[in-house]
Amino acid sequence: MIAIVARSENGVIGKDGGLPWRCKGDLQFFKRTTMDRKIVVGRTTFDGLPPLKGRDIYVLTRNRNASFENGTTIIQPDQVPADAIICGGATIYDLLLEHCEEVFVTTVKQEVEGDTFFNDQWLSGFSADKTIEETEAYSIVSYKRISA
Ligand SMILES: NC(=O)c1ccc[n+]([C@@H]2O[C@H](COP(=O)([O-])OP(=O)(O)OC[C@H]3O[C@@H](n4cnc5c(N)ncnc54)[C@H](OP(=O)(O)O)[C@@H]3O)[C@@H](O)[C@H]2O)c1
Repeated sequence: MIAIVARSENGVIGKDGGLPWRCKGDLQFFKRTTMDRKIVVGRTTFDGLPPLKGRDIYVLTRNRNASFENGTTIIQPDQVPADAIICGGATIYDLLLEHCEEVFVTTVKQEVEGDTFFNDQWLSGFSADKTIEETEAYSIVSYKRISA
């Protein structure tokens, strides 16, 4: 299991159910990393997503009556596929990052206002592996689990 997350310099990951920045490079990285893969999101994040073609979407919700569009599967935390990419939001990272082997972290080089925050504890047990992209606007760094 791997995860992908983007944060601002001041640790924001979301605002009003969406992302409080426009970062084309990060969106392109998200697209190429998740294409043809299984992605796992919380229901709040799912509600804010545009249609994502070419990905199997697994949504975590406690609502037994929920139903989403075709191609979307409702799951509980113990049903997360081992080969999935964990895509947030904060409650889902809280729950599942400890099961991930690798995390891709984009830092958008802006300070923004938000209501959902990166938790430094999410990377406890990981160390920076390599810088995948570095531009004036953002950086993307992969973190790998420190083996015991
Ligand atoms: N920057 C990034 O990389 C990034 C990535 C993803 C999301 N985001 C942002 O993060 C924000 C949303 O994050 P969030 O933490 O508020 O919400 P979230 O994690 O996306 O979704 C929360 C919902 O997930 C379901 N859920 C949580 N724990 C569960 C469990 N143990 N079992 C079953 N279902 C469970 C519940 O849905 P029900 O209420 O339906 O039961 C809960 O309300 C948005 O602003 C979004 O844009 C940012």
